Amino acid sequence: MSKILLVDNDEGLIHFLTRLFAKQGHEVASCTDGMSALARVKAETFDLILLDYKMPGLNGLETLVEIKSAQIRTPVIVMTAYGTTETAIEAMKLGAYDYLLKPFETEGLKRLAADALEVNRLMKEIVSLPSSVTRISPPLSGSVRIVGTSGQMQEVFKLIGQVAEKDVGVLITGESGTGKELVARAIYHHSHRQDKPFMAVNCATVPDALFESELFGYERGAFTGAYRSYVGKFERCDGGTVFLDEIGDMSLTTQAKVLRVLQEGEFERLGSTDTIRVDVRILAATNKNLEREIEKGRFREDLYYRLKVICIQLPPLRERPDDVPALVKYFVGRFSEEYGKSVHYVADQTLHKLRSYAWPGSVRELEYHLRRAVLLCKGDVLLAEHVELAAEPEGAAQGGSRDERVERLKQRLADLVPEILRLADDQATPVDIMDLVEEALISRALQEGDYNQVRTAQRLGISRNTLRHRIKKYHLGQAGE
Ligand SMILES: Nc1ncnc2c1ncn2[C@@H]1O[C@H](COP(=O)(O)OP(=O)(O)OP(=O)(O)O)[C@@H](O)[C@H]1O
Ligand SMILES: [Mg+2]
Repeated sequence: MSKILLVDNDEGLIHFLTRLFAKQGHEVASCTDGMSALARVKAETFDLILLDYKMPGLNGLETLVEIKSAQIRTPVIVMTAYGTTETAIEAMKLGAYDYLLKPFETEGLKRLAADALEVNRLMKEIVSLPSSVTRISPPLSGSVRIVGTSGQMQEVFKLIGQVAEKDVGVLITGESGTGKELVARAIYHHSHRQDKPFMAVNCATVPDALFESELFGYERGAFTGAYRSYVGKFERCDGGTVFLDEIGDMSLTTQAKVLRVLQEGEFERLGSTDTIRVDVRILAATNKNLEREIEKGRFREDLYYRLKVICIQLPPLRERPDDVPALVKYFVGRFSEEYGKSVHYVADQTLHKLRSYAWPGSVRELEYHLRRAVLLCKGDVLLAEHVELAAEPEGAAQGGSRDERVERLKQRLADLVPEILRLADDQATPVDIMDLVEEALISRALQEGDYNQVRTAQRLGISRNTLRHRIKKYHLGQAGE
């Protein structure tokens, strides 16, 4: 449940929005003018603020300025009437999370609010390090920890401690599920930029064309469908930290632009020649071997060397079994609390079983099994039978039965969907987003498989015939075909 503050002098709209958010399980408060909103946000903490522009007394932008100068980090969405795009852009420059043009569609608002709440969570849920490394005392609630007692993880903590406060870019590498995102968030929380925004962008999930808009923004008319100007993540995050997740999947043209942001702090919005200067710290992560990507011509060498200056490598869990007991203790404690269980002990046998497993999915997989085990546990001792580790199926990326793996895949895919839908919302005229997603997926798989159709079809789990049809439909054949 999140706490949302609505500020609008239109009581009808307040009533409507209150019902909408309450139905989603949020706690909603409201004010009808800027002054009382200010008093309210100074007195209590909110997770999201929706602010109308046109109000008697302080208008929305003036209220926004006051909120920001009171060092309140809660994301603010400014609502303005159509035809006042300039106000909207101004709002973004003043540090609004985003803006909504009235009248708006409920679905669009819901998605925007969900995104803003996620950014709020990433910023406010502190990732703390072992106390030997950190000087700030971890907050009492809403925090998560990076756990690790092994020598390898102690090195990682030391490195985080050394680089967090320096204003340099950091490249975080490691297999899937080893904690790359967690490390990025820890760096942010221990940096001088902790009061400024932290925004994560996943380079692998957004189709290329949309991705550049997302990062750099665009001007009205920049391309068909760009009916309003859009402020990209770099601009929104001025003064803050941008986390480029899965940077190995970024296209070469975008890489060139990102390099320029890294080197000069400059870029242009799509469709504009005005250079925009920003001050952002870039953290990047990848599970790919970038050196191999460079060899294949898929990653820029100059960007690699620029990023690699500070590199934190996360070892897979199978290479540090000594971390298993501490992680087990941490997760069992967390999940017991979350599910109101009182699991106080972990049987030696259980620990032994967990230590000797190879953890192809690293910490994420261990976390999954422990969540499940805590839920299944009836007494206060976690027994070996509560943890069902499948014999590793050949070629499977993660443990568990096929159904379980598909279920996990489904969940991870579901996490990507809101981003895609929001990008679709930004188009003036409806686009066939299903087709665009399918096209992007297939085009990418073909590229990665060097256009070998048999291999690509196999990887996508479709027949070769189906693949051929799609290649024709989307004109995805290699030049000359
Ligand atoms: N050392 C750790 N201590 C506590 N929790 C951890 C640790 N490492 C990973 N986790 C947890 O495991 C899960 C996966 O971590 P995270 O998302 O950071 O991995 P990742 O390397 O970004 O994976 P991917 O490449 O798949 O995106 C998260 O829920 C995270 O909180
Ligand atoms: Mg990740």
